[in-house]
Amino acid sequence: MKEIVASAPGKIILLGEHAVVYGYPAIALAISISSKCEIQETVNGGIQIDFKNFNQAFDFSNINDLILNLPTNYNQIRFLLINFKERFNIDLNKVKITFTSILFPNSGLGSSAAIAVALISALNEYYNLNLEKKEISKYAFDMEKIVHGSPSGIDNTICTYGNMIFYQTGNFRFIKIPYELKFLVTYTNIEHNTKMAIDQIRLLQQKDPKKVEETFAKIGEITKEVENELIANKDPNFAYIGKLMNRNQNLLSFLKVSNSNISEITNLALKVGAYGSKLTGDGLGGCVITLGKEEVLSKLLILLKQKGYNSYITSMDREGGKIEKKF
Ligand code: MEV
Repeated sequence: MKEIVASAPGKIILLGEHAVVYGYPAIALAISISSKCEIQETVNGGIQIDFKNFNQAFDFSNINDLILNLPTNYNQIRFLLINFKERFNIDLNKVKITFTSILFPNSGLGSSAAIAVALISALNEYYNLNLEKKEISKYAFDMEKIVHGSPSGIDNTICTYGNMIFYQTGNFRFIKIPYELKFLVTYTNIEHNTKMAIDQIRLLQQKDPKKVEETFAKIGEITKEVENELIANKDPNFAYIGKLMNRNQNLLSFLKVSNSNISEITNLALKVGAYGSKLTGDGLGGCVITLGKEEVLSKLLILLKQKGYNSYITSMDREGGKIEKKF
């Protein structure tokens, strides 16, 4: 029986979220926590879909049954399967598609993009479609538009290619770092909501367009400054990068996408000696990233746990979407 397992990493935005939606640059990197998609051939006909993390499993008699009955919160999956069926004439009969993720769900770590890239990569391998990374990223972007409305494209790009990128208006370049980079990623215990966060900024922009534009421009400058520091040095000044992360966090607070849980985490991080700490992704919840010496991150992880926040120490993923297993 044929079986394929594909995975795609989650992502963090180091600097530049939100401003990136308005054409300013952002730096993002893939992290060593991934989502997986498994496609198995089954004995019985039909299509089974199992979202392990959400404890939701479905058994459809055929693709038309799936189109009609897959719940609307999985619209992006429905869209992709219809698209691939029409475009590549694939036979979606006798398959079980299983999704698993150890990313905190709805936490802004790119889980929707990681799931999209894992699914497309698995279909690519299972049906021998010969899609290149560029096409995988594009199909994932189409799925992201269904989930988030007007995404910048940064999530699908980083989940597809892995590594660290400097991203601006649909174009990106890799930032090559020969050294190991570790972050503490802490869940704020509040689900992120990309659309709500973007709408929140849009509202502010209508009220005070000049000030919001100036804030984006400052975020853009900080982002470029950090890229320079990262690429110019084999041994970058992490204390300086941390300082710029903190400045970015203050600007995001001004844009009103921070909240009290985020501040509690970032304040504690700085108190125990981290270089920098900021929200990552949408804000208003989601996750906080902290840069610091590994012993500081380990200590912080324990202190945050005592306050009810779960964290991971993550390193950078250098591979992006990939096939884990095939039989
Ligand atoms: C989402 O991870 C980050 C935002 O900048 C939105 C986007 O880039 O699509 C808030």
